[in-house]
Amino acid sequence: MKKKIIIIILLIIVLISGCLIFYYLNQPSVTLNKKTIPLNQETRLDEIILVKKGELVDNKKINTKKLGQTKITVQVLDFIKRKHTYEFKIDIIDTEKPIINYQKEIKIEAGTKTDLLKNVTASDNSKEEIKVTVDGKYDLNKAGEYKIYYIAKDASGNEAKEEAKLTVTAKSNSANIVTKNFTTSKGFKGVTKGGVTYIDGILVVNKTYSLPSNYGNGLTSTTLNAFNKMKTAASKEGLNIYISSGFRSYTRQNSIYNNYVKQDGKAKADTYSARPGHSEHQTGLAYDVNTISPAFDNTKEAKWLANNCYKYGFILRYPKGKDNETGYMYESWHFRYVGEDLATKLYNNGDWITLETYFGITSAY
Ligand code: DAL
Ligand code: ZN
Repeated sequence: MKKKIIIIILLIIVLISGCLIFYYLNQPSVTLNKKTIPLNQETRLDEIILVKKGELVDNKKINTKKLGQTKITVQVLDFIKRKHTYEFKIDIIDTEKPIINYQKEIKIEAGTKTDLLKNVTASDNSKEEIKVTVDGKYDLNKAGEYKIYYIAKDASGNEAKEEAKLTVTAKSNSANIVTKNFTTSKGFKGVTKGGVTYIDGILVVNKTYSLPSNYGNGLTSTTLNAFNKMKTAASKEGLNIYISSGFRSYTRQNSIYNNYVKQDGKAKADTYSARPGHSEHQTGLAYDVNTISPAFDNTKEAKWLANNCYKYGFILRYPKGKDNETGYMYESWHFRYVGEDLATKLYNNGDWITLETYFGITSAY
């Protein structure tokens, strides 16, 4: 009898030990198979960990929105549905190159003090600091055409490089610059100096007033800064505005205009495209946004811009029904920087006054 009891106890011990050994041999194993994830890349737990002999409780998304080390918690059920928790450290890294916003063609006069980085900005998917530099063999004091390179590097070492053309024109002789003063029909004082016309201090370009072919080298920083302020304000209202066509050189406008003439004939082209030297885009103060076509007219963005751009110093340059004044058909997408004071006057509570009517000038070839 005693022997039997001992055997039974031994059997129970063997059985329990067997169960325990089986339980421990079948515990889940969780390993990390990726230690880094690119910033903002949508990633779920099962893409970076390997689970054996177990089942993930929640295959959740990993927060990849912030650069640096992050802790992830993994919960796994074993074969008797017991929950085990594991913790891992992974790194969210930036692998994307910054994007450089720059002018492809820069023109300056020899000897002019120029900061080639003045109108260059760079953006990145991360909030890291981006360093922008300019490289290449060029001489700002010697006329010629040079290749320059903009290089943007973020703190993670991702580097973008863009090529631009730098034209240094021969120094003009200031003694030869012709200056002509005049007064407009509304009594504003105008001056045309070296082929550039200012009326009451405002640069004016239309069919009557032109620019020299070498004028302009990109959107001015005042224009860009005001645009960025306006873009931020618009985005707070859920609107997306972006520059589709900014600065256009004389040569660029020449090819655009000639293409339209081929397509529609000169008379028609003149109603919507400026001849080279007559485009506001060459001033560096004007730009087109979003869709450059009447398809933009009835968008929320167009309506918002027409009613708010003046707060940032911009005017709707070619308002509806004012073709006879501006010389061009309605363009809901073309804006021009004139400063907040004048822009507010021209806004005129939504009934835009044209520069031509305000100053008392023509726009005709
Ligand atoms: N579309 C405007 C008038 C320009 O060509 O400058
Ligand atoms: Zn335009």
